[in-house]
Amino acid sequence: EFHRHPKEVRFASDGPFGTFDKQQLQRGFQVYKEVCSACHSLRLVAFRDLSQLGYNEAEVKAIAKGFQVPGIDPNTGEANTRPGLPTDYFPKPFANDIAARAANNNAVPPDLSLMTKARHEGPAYVYSLLTGFQNQPAALLQKFPDAKTPAGLHYNPYFANLNLAMAPPLTAEGQVTYGDGTKSSVDQMAKDVAAFLVWTAEPKLAKRHQTGFPVVIFLIFATVLAYMAYQNVWRGKK
Ligand code: HEM
Repeated sequence: EFHRHPKEVRFASDGPFGTFDKQQLQRGFQVYKEVCSACHSLRLVAFRDLSQLGYNEAEVKAIAKGFQVPGIDPNTGEANTRPGLPTDYFPKPFANDIAARAANNNAVPPDLSLMTKARHEGPAYVYSLLTGFQNQPAALLQKFPDAKTPAGLHYNPYFANLNLAMAPPLTAEGQVTYGDGTKSSVDQMAKDVAAFLVWTAEPKLAKRHQTGFPVVIFLIFATVLAYMAYQNVWRGKK
């Protein structure tokens, strides 16, 4: 009864005609890069995929270079890190899960590539989670005193467990300075990064929608044609 269904929120990618708003995807990427990437990887997204959002080759190279990816020292053969290349994927920010847990109250921040597919009403869920941190309602504590948020966790009614190890990552207006001049309220940043995570989970969504509609029209046409052919072939036969 205290766990809430995601908020009502609309995205350009919604519905059978949904498409991507590239400006919004760029803003969402900025939020990911400047805030979320400190803890979350995008292991299914390569830097070069960003060209689909409208970044040119030089920009993609520069973005990749700003991330450290796992590498091997050519002299010693030991594992180390090197600046990213366009062909690399968004790396894990922690060396391993032990380091990740040590920094996050014993929780491993999950990879975000498919998060909008993994959760019910994915983008609305991500948006709601990011804007849903609050104090525990008195009614909950009265009914379930043991449910008091433990030290180091944060209450969020959109999270199935109610208490999660992620502190509110978006806290202040202007936390990210958008390249397109959009005002970066917490609400806007949450929406934009949710939209960006729809793209990471299904980069071909817009293409699929664009293809699907003509296909349906064609199938309807083919059905009508088949029916008419059937009538013609059986005309006069009983
Ligand atoms: C979990 C999104 C920033 C640490 C999550 C989850 C999402 C998410 C969707 C999964 C919740 C679930 O399992 O249903 C984001 C976004 C961020 C962001 C969009 C940027 C705006 C951060 C940052 C940190 C962090 C900066 C670390 C300082 C964690 C941890 C969890 C988590 C530790 C696991 C929580 C648990 O299972 O209790 N995040 N996150 N996140 N995030 Fe983030």
